Amino acid sequence: MPATILQGKEVAKSIRAELAEEVAGLKQQGITPGLTVILVGEDPASHSYVRGKSKGCEEVGIHSEVILKDAATTQEELLEIIQQLNQNPNVNGILVQLPLPSHISEEAVLDAIDPSKDVDGFHPINVGNMVIGKETLLPCTPHGVIELIKRTGTEIAGKHAVVIGRSNIVGKPVSLLLQRENATVTMCHSRTKDLPSFTKMADILVVAAGKAHMIGKEHVKPGAVVIDVGVNRNEAGKLVGDVKFDEVQETASYLTPVPGGVGPMTITMLLKNTVEAAKQQAK
Ligand code: GUN
Repeated sequence: MPATILQGKEVAKSIRAELAEEVAGLKQQGITPGLTVILVGEDPASHSYVRGKSKGCEEVGIHSEVILKDAATTQEELLEIIQQLNQNPNVNGILVQLPLPSHISEEAVLDAIDPSKDVDGFHPINVGNMVIGKETLLPCTPHGVIELIKRTGTEIAGKHAVVIGRSNIVGKPVSLLLQRENATVTMCHSRTKDLPSFTKMADILVVAAGKAHMIGKEHVKPGAVVIDVGVNRNEAGKLVGDVKFDEVQETASYLTPVPGGVGPMTITMLLKNTVEAAKQQAK
């Protein structure tokens, strides 16, 4: 039987509906969650992502502002803006869109954000809290991956999960969150030898390698849940994942499409983090 397609768009829609209700309740208590996004430079993809974030905020009732700065902005100017936002009680979440121009240190900028307003979950304090299993703001894409797996009804505890890719923003945090859900986790990466011997053991396979169509049916155990985090452009300029969708659809029990799988979950988890940050700051 072919895989059930895991429509992230649909899951995202239902989580956003839940969030809209929660925000309406918070507003009755005088709390309006607020997100400020800082965008430096003219990268069209970044502008498009930021528009998506603003639209998402509007949909659930979060107040959002975008601070646009030109590519010549200095690191000092950016740090000054972040300090002001850290002190502004109306701003519950701060997100600096990446990548930044090369003269600005991403590390210095991300470290400057108040961890309680770090809705990306990229601040070392939040990363550390995640590692030790403390309640904290979780990074959006990894959190979205876990939510998608849960919404299939799959019990994660005791399953063998294989994660391909070890980036700081996807592979590493996804493996930690799966461990936290009591999966047995194997990490694979570009230097792994005999990849299929590992992936064939996976009940849950998360692919975040950033290499178009690298996973075919020879990699997948029949009945596995396959989550494709890859976003690549093929020769025709079309968005494709890391998984050969048509092939793997024949073997997997659940499979995410690209686009429309993990992508819509990322912004939704940002909205969830902003609401969470507002609630925590109101305490
Ligand atoms: N650029 C691409 N994805 C992201 C993200 O998740 N957060 C931020 N801040 N910038 C990005």
